[in-house]
Amino acid sequence: MTKEFLPYGRQSICDDDIAAVVDVLRSDWLTTGPAVERFEAGICGFTGAKYGVAVNSGTAALHAAMHAIGIGVGDEVIVPPMTFAATANCVLYQGGTPVFADVEPDTLLIDPGAVEVAITPRTKAIIGVDYAGQPCDWEALRGIAAKHGLALVADACHALGAQYKGRKVGTLADISAFSFHPVKHITTGEGGMCLTDNETLAVRMRAFRGHGISSTAAQREKAGGWFYEMTDLGYNYRISDIQCALGASQLKKLTRWIAKRNELAAIYDTAFTESVVRPLAKRSDVVHAYHLYIVRVAERDVAFKSLRESGIGANVHYVPVYLHPYYREHFGIKECPCPVAESVYKEILTLPLWPGMVEADVWRIVDKLKNIFD
Ligand SMILES: Cc1ncc(COP(=O)(O)O)c(C=O)c1O
Repeated sequence: MTKEFLPYGRQSICDDDIAAVVDVLRSDWLTTGPAVERFEAGICGFTGAKYGVAVNSGTAALHAAMHAIGIGVGDEVIVPPMTFAATANCVLYQGGTPVFADVEPDTLLIDPGAVEVAITPRTKAIIGVDYAGQPCDWEALRGIAAKHGLALVADACHALGAQYKGRKVGTLADISAFSFHPVKHITTGEGGMCLTDNETLAVRMRAFRGHGISSTAAQREKAGGWFYEMTDLGYNYRISDIQCALGASQLKKLTRWIAKRNELAAIYDTAFTESVVRPLAKRSDVVHAYHLYIVRVAERDVAFKSLRESGIGANVHYVPVYLHPYYREHFGIKECPCPVAESVYKEILTLPLWPGMVEADVWRIVDKLKNIFD
């Protein structure tokens, strides 16, 4: 059992990961080279998606997705409030307006009924967030998107390795965005990826990651030419080969790590049966990727403080996005547009969960929580 501070999430780095990074450091390409393509192919192979565009963060992946589907000034994009700010910020980067649709009280996943209600003539897209690692009701969201002619984007930053009705996350929306931040399922230090089955969207996102230029230095070198053109306004969202070598090495362990996350979550679930500590509901038709293990407790702030005092790195995910000062100041969002998110927010607590933890770590947390409440 780990007696030192237990963070809510952290990376697991092994010797083979370090060796993979060192190999790239000795190679000719440190960025936008073959290790990036190998990582993209690896994630596509794992998820079944056709095209992968690796970028330098999950936020960049979401921004690239908004660009690719053509979000611009005057467009509305429906998002849930119970998410990291990046889900809504990516709409703002393109000059669009995020419109918040409430979440379901038991799973905190976007409520398809609330999405329908939020649609206006300006709505152009829906972003579903696979909150905590559990897929949204993608069938319902796809039905709504098709009915109203909207693009559907998955913020799958929590859900690499999850499945919905037997289909891997990464294949359920027009574009799915992933993050490889150290607390996520696999890491590249910082990094992200967009997955899509649509070649046109993939080409747009690939150019967007490199200033809107349609070829890379590696491609020009291979072709023996120098000429390039900038055909669109893009960014430097490139990810390095160093990062992608780490990601590809981590990917080999993903299946095992998802299983470990599920095993640890099952121990928490059993321990909290009939308890005042209430885990979020799990849908019956999914494989949960358990990026986060979230419970609801009546006196959340008391529990948070007490856990932290005993070296347990509880956390809170998330403040509903529109309650952040920036959103309040700039959008004047009407009072309590998402009552479920606002009320549940006061009760949610994230407990430590990452593959390097052992069963005894979970019991240490469970015992502490039981002491607080019983
Ligand atoms: C739901 C969600 N979306 C987007 C992001 C942004 O990812 P990144 O930190 O890699 O930019 C995160 C990161 O935590 C996230 O949790």
